[in-house]
Amino acid sequence: MKIVVVSGTYREGRKSHGVAVCLNRELLSLGYTTELVDLKAYNLPVLEYIYAKHPAPTEAMHKLHSIFDSADAFILVTPEYNGAPAASLKNSLDYFRKEYYRKVMGICTVSSGALGGMRAATSLQQMVLWYGGVPVSQMLTVPKVQNHFDEEGNLSDSEFKPNIDKFLESFLWLSDAVTVKRNS
Ligand SMILES: Cc1cc2nc3c(=O)[nH]c(=O)nc-3n(C[C@H](O)[C@H](O)[C@H](O)COP(=O)(O)O)c2cc1C
Repeated sequence: MKIVVVSGTYREGRKSHGVAVCLNRELLSLGYTTELVDLKAYNLPVLEYIYAKHPAPTEAMHKLHSIFDSADAFILVTPEYNGAPAASLKNSLDYFRKEYYRKVMGICTVSSGALGGMRAATSLQQMVLWYGGVPVSQMLTVPKVQNHFDEEGNLSDSEFKPNIDKFLESFLWLSDAVTVKRNS
């Protein structure tokens, strides 16, 4: 099973990228095959054509398609900006659709405030249904990210670790089951 961890914001000085790095590292330490996709590195333009109908897809679009297509499950990591997921995440995801079909999509939202991006999390969970993915009921919301993670994505507060473990356990349980079914 291949898991793709998507880091969703382009913002300079972003803190949520460290959370994506941390989740990717945790999955690797559990023995899973993963790929960390930093959307900032792909820098897709605001959508004019979806990938499947694009008259001249760029190298970045081809590459992202290929990575998403090869995934069995996704973890989407995004900050909450004005009560919603980062526009860069939504824009990049909107290029594709069949690449997500019947694949589990776990959600992790990040904020510097107390609510951990809960509003972004619930709307992203709904969005997963539009993409044809399988949402995980357990989400990971990271409040006060600056208190829990350092710049390199290391967990600086060990008391937060059970939240990560609980999220990954739910995500992996469903991903394993759906992947077996999809491949049968
Ligand atoms: C444009 C913008 C809008 C934001 N809106 C919210 C918000 O709605 N709720 C919230 O808790 N934090 C909000 N924040 C603060 C983020 O939680 C904070 O930037 C945090 O570090 C996570 O995002 P990052 O990955 O960009 O660092 C906002 C930040 C920006 C730049």
